[in-house]
Amino acid sequence: MGRVDVLLGLQWGDEGKGKVVDFLAPKYDVVARFQGGPNAGHTLEFDGKKHVLHQIPSGIFHEGILNVVGNGVVLDPITFAQEIKDLESFNLDLQKSLILSNKAQVIIPTHRLLDQAYEISKGEQKIGSTLRGIGPTYQDKMARVGLRLGDLVEPDFKQRYEKLRDRHLAILDNHDLDFNIQALDEKFFQALDVLRQFDIVSTEYIINDQLSQGSSVLAEGAQGSLLDIDFGSYPFVTSSNTISAGACAGLGVPPGKIKEVYGIFKAYCTRVGSGPFPTELLDASGEDLRKRGNEFGATTGRPRRCGWLDLPALRYAVMLNGVTKLFMMKVDVLADLEEIKACVGYEREGVKTDQVPLNFTEDWQLLHQSFKSWSDGQYQSFGQFPDELSEYIHFIEQNISVPLTLVSTGPDRTQTVLKEETIAL
Ligand code: GDP
Ligand code: IMO
Ligand code: MG
Repeated sequence: MGRVDVLLGLQWGDEGKGKVVDFLAPKYDVVARFQGGPNAGHTLEFDGKKHVLHQIPSGIFHEGILNVVGNGVVLDPITFAQEIKDLESFNLDLQKSLILSNKAQVIIPTHRLLDQAYEISKGEQKIGSTLRGIGPTYQDKMARVGLRLGDLVEPDFKQRYEKLRDRHLAILDNHDLDFNIQALDEKFFQALDVLRQFDIVSTEYIINDQLSQGSSVLAEGAQGSLLDIDFGSYPFVTSSNTISAGACAGLGVPPGKIKEVYGIFKAYCTRVGSGPFPTELLDASGEDLRKRGNEFGATTGRPRRCGWLDLPALRYAVMLNGVTKLFMMKVDVLADLEEIKACVGYEREGVKTDQVPLNFTEDWQLLHQSFKSWSDGQYQSFGQFPDELSEYIHFIEQNISVPLTLVSTGPDRTQTVLKEETIAL
């Protein structure tokens, strides 16, 4: 029987999802994105090349895999056209290996302008959005006024586009933004020509047909569980369900088809944009982690905030997603440090808890545990790990009660250590 495995981030995004999806893709028939849009930046490194994907699934570099942009995604045709252009030098047969859901919502240029306008009006309370139009597009989807990719072929598409654009322009009238709407319209319609070269179909049928033929599907999450619209650090979140439940709604697959849920996290923690981050290191050690981990946003280039691993928050994310296997990334970044810490609980007014509070309150006291750092190296198996790294892994497994089966020791595809026989399809 076919199966869907979901791979998703357990922190505030940028855990290394792109790298691991690319690594695991050869074991699957289909790789599918189920939510988010061009706010994502998924970095892949192989054969000395580095490539960042935003809307295209991270299975695209492997032959014989079908890549699907699911109905839960919000897609920007302009960014999409650019991504296709950036892939030209790889000589991939994209029209064959990439299909798009006719139900995915379309980001139009004024969605991006609205994102800017809303952020400016929030002032100090701004979310730190990537300004890719994500929030306003999901807003229109829920308000039932959005455009879907399947609408592109309708004869009245231009009128419908103009109606939505004018609705946005009326709101933008109250904001002081500088833009040239004719130029934006032109760019948008040019980009549609690229989009029309691809199959825009009911991908839910294709995925379910594949499942009934026994195929395996890897659902690729974007962002992370702590940015989830329901369970993340609201309002400093993204506008979609990033947790595993989102994969069912965002692809049209029944919950019973989901088998493994791979939860991926950094050996420490990062966040880009505003909002609470209890374990953030605001001193030189945070700066040190940023430098060692090269922690700069793959989409916006913004420096990422850095801090220690937050185990109560990780446990929360594991619970919400039903994680069956843990993957730990960037252990090389913590190598050869004087000391490593992890938050193991919170305390307020003398009362200890390991539950994440409503607002991820930062003024709670954090209870830390220290660990010894390990020496850096190109380890090929779990058995080769230095004792200190094995102890860190063991502690996390005990604390979270889920096995940790993949460790990443560097950005390249080959710098990935899988515990023997743990991913058998
Ligand atoms: P994603 O959004 O979850 O796909 O992650 P990003 O691509 O935004 O950020 C992860 C960054 O870490 C990228 O620059 C990766 O190349 C890099 N990376 C992934 N795994 C490792 C690792 O094990 N060690 C190091 N040093 N870098 C890694
Ligand atoms: P990947 O898939 C990290 C953050 C933004 C901001 C908040 C809302 O690469 O892990 P939005 O543009 O969605 O309105 O921004 O969410 N954010 C991400 N942070 N990685 C991402 O994606 C992110 N996508 C959005 O920085 O704080
Ligand atoms: Mg990223």
